[in-house]
Amino acid sequence: MAKAARVSYVCQNCGASAPRWTGKCASCGEWNTLVEETDAGPAPGSGVTKATRGRVVPLQSLRGDTRETPRILTGMPELERVTGGGLVPASALLIGGEPGIGKSTLLLQLAASLAKSGRRAVYFSGEEAIAQVRLRAERLGLADAPVALASETNLSNIMATLADGGRPDLVVIDSVQTLWADTLDAAPGTVSQVRAATQSLIRFAKQTGSALLLVGHVTKDGQIAGPKVIEHMVDTVLYFEGDRGHPFRILRSVKNRFGATDEIGVFEMASGGLREVANPSELFLGERDAHAPGASVFAGVEGTRPLLVEIQALVAPSALGTPRRAVVGWDSNRLSMLLAVLDARCGVSLAHHDVYLNVAGGLRISEPAADLAVAAALLSSFSGAALPADHVYFGEISLSGAVRTTGHMTTRLKEAHKLGFKRAVIPASGDADERAAKLTLVRLAHLKDLAESIGPCQ
Ligand code: TYD
Ligand code: MG
Repeated sequence: MAKAARVSYVCQNCGASAPRWTGKCASCGEWNTLVEETDAGPAPGSGVTKATRGRVVPLQSLRGDTRETPRILTGMPELERVTGGGLVPASALLIGGEPGIGKSTLLLQLAASLAKSGRRAVYFSGEEAIAQVRLRAERLGLADAPVALASETNLSNIMATLADGGRPDLVVIDSVQTLWADTLDAAPGTVSQVRAATQSLIRFAKQTGSALLLVGHVTKDGQIAGPKVIEHMVDTVLYFEGDRGHPFRILRSVKNRFGATDEIGVFEMASGGLREVANPSELFLGERDAHAPGASVFAGVEGTRPLLVEIQALVAPSALGTPRRAVVGWDSNRLSMLLAVLDARCGVSLAHHDVYLNVAGGLRISEPAADLAVAAALLSSFSGAALPADHVYFGEISLSGAVRTTGHMTTRLKEAHKLGFKRAVIPASGDADERAAKLTLVRLAHLKDLAESIGPCQ
């Protein structure tokens, strides 16, 4: 007698499986994420599969004769920087990002660049028809690149196509949420479909030594849609982010088994596709109005790369009982903390003022070292006095108001000097050397010193 297929309810957020439907996932606490899925495998205890007797595998020592396979150079230095030196053969890379941010454009440019250098690049588009991809290639001036292109979403067809041709160096799947395996009774994009597709593709990549690139959609809160699980399965996870209103796009590495994380690549979306930006600080400071109150320059570091950005603040008397706080590009909790420290430790109260904070250029900063630059911008806007145009700021502020030291001091100072800044306002402790930095250093021990130097507050 055939056993009935097993039904389970799988959380589309975390991948946890439950025997019956509940409104809230017991594993991750998200609401309404459980979806009914039928398991194609045999039910436990059905006797269909018998555990085989295990084979003894040889145990080895850590030291051994393992040679690193050479990386696949992409001809795109920004991408190489983020991946830690190029694509790794037999690896899987997941690239996530909001719709329309430029994932397909980036991967088409990459596939074309590799194909032109004589490598075999196969591009499966599950979202766009061949004609659409061709149109884009034409717009990008890449129509002549020998990329092998197919518009397909059926996993078996994709696996058969891959097995049929020569060994590909690069396989692009755009996107993994569109794939479906006909052995599974679940809709495309559900956890079990995405997991099955990713597993088969990764197995193919490991067996043949191809580099696999998967595009993943993100949900409205910025996570890769549905399958947190595939982030664990792949070797590298990159996020492509940026503000739709700005041309800059940041490729950020959040997981990398073959290199450092937190590294960023900077691109500019132009009419001819994505252009690499080798000197992002110049671009982010490009349209600066240095004489307006409320603007400061933060000397930041993303990964190993220094990045100077303008922080803009607007502090205005509020007509509301609860004043507004709006933040773009920075953490709003961090702003609340900073406002509380200004109030409690420096006697600067913004309790009756609206506060708006913006990181110019559409960049998102997560470094705590930005605290001092944000405080400078807030104090400048509050007092109405513009900050000197040739100053940069960095330093973390603790709850006591003390300015704490940060890493990469020399890198930050060198970049500021390169861009013509004359003074750096930095933490009192730390190993910065004035002569080596070629900047005048203003060392601050407490936020109060900054508040006093910026001038009388209203
Ligand atoms: P796309 O790569 O389709 O985004 P995704 O795959 O992440 O959804 O990018 C689409 C956007 O990029 C679209 O809004 C138009 C813009 N774009 C340009 O500005 N210039 C170009 O040369 C191309 C190809 C796209
Ligand atoms: Mg796309």
